[in-house]
Amino acid sequence: MSNKVNKIAILTSGGDSPGMNAALRAVVRTGLYFGLEVYGIMRGYSGMMEDDIFQMDSRSVANIIQRGGTILKSARCKEFYTPEGRAKAYANLERRGIDGLVVIGGDGSFTGAMKLQAEFGIPVIGLPGTIDKDLYGTDFTIGFDTAVNTAVEAIDKIRDTADAHDRLFIVEVMGRHAGYIALHSGIATGAETILIPEASTNMDDVIASLSEKEKRKKLVNIIVVAEGDAFGGANEVAKVIKERLPKFDTKVSILGHIQRGGSPTCSDRLIASRMGYHAIEALLAGKSNVMVGIVNNEMSYTPLEIAIREKDVIDEDWLRIVKILAS
Ligand code: ADP
Ligand code: F6P
Repeated sequence: MSNKVNKIAILTSGGDSPGMNAALRAVVRTGLYFGLEVYGIMRGYSGMMEDDIFQMDSRSVANIIQRGGTILKSARCKEFYTPEGRAKAYANLERRGIDGLVVIGGDGSFTGAMKLQAEFGIPVIGLPGTIDKDLYGTDFTIGFDTAVNTAVEAIDKIRDTADAHDRLFIVEVMGRHAGYIALHSGIATGAETILIPEASTNMDDVIASLSEKEKRKKLVNIIVVAEGDAFGGANEVAKVIKERLPKFDTKVSILGHIQRGGSPTCSDRLIASRMGYHAIEALLAGKSNVMVGIVNNEMSYTPLEIAIREKDVIDEDWLRIVKILAS
């Protein structure tokens, strides 16, 4: 393995996700194993800008593999959108001789990383840290499995009370631009309908399906809506249903940020550990501007530009399965 990089920095940025700590631990310990100096940057690009950077050792990442959130904290940094802001931030890396950067985050964080790479030549590696699973080039993102399991646990509980009162619940899950949390949690909880940004929402179909089920005395229904659904989220969907089907006892539950927190699942810890290890291997092999992902259980390296631009197409089969299984 050729060692072109000597000092690396790592940051977590954008929306946090469970498993970011496990990824950080893997990057730090693998970096140290290969003889690199490793620096942690607090609060994403804000800390880079404000020179909130510290050297990490193996103990810096002790006892964090099981913790949600991120010990490096996360932030959104407006100044980093400007070339002047990025120059100011990069100067703090340059002064320390940092010659490699690992960014754990989502598409926005990767865009910032690409710009830094283009402007200053520093090699950057992205790790997909987002509960939304809205990056191309990986079957799973760090945090997605935990978020889905949190949603499933919550929806199961909602179903208990829905059943006791013969109610219809519209449950809103996270996903401003992506419906994966809705799709996975909806299928796993037996949702009647799943509404996602990637498919057009036809309220006539939803009403017709609910009416037909009412005739068959199916009174307990769960509709899972991604927050980014074009119809406008759970409250908007509920408004139409209440107007057109007043006989239904309709309630709304918005799960919100509980989906971003909590101890990462085994699956998230595993992918975070594997991806973290391979981020260092990739840097040492001279790779840059790529996101480390896992496709069909094999490591994959996707140019950041493609990871953020291409969109996975939601398989029609999944939506068909929802309909048939909820009948
Ligand atoms: P995520 O990484 O979860 O998608 P954001 O979109 O909020 O989160 O991006 C995180 C941070 O990345 C932003 O606050 C900003 O500092 C940086 N960033 C995002 N987009 C750009 C961009 N177009 N140019 C430069 N920096 C960006
Ligand atoms: O992490 C992604 C995400 O959960 C989106 O689904 C959601 O819209 C967004 O973060 C909300 O983030 P914040 O509340 O931090 O702005």
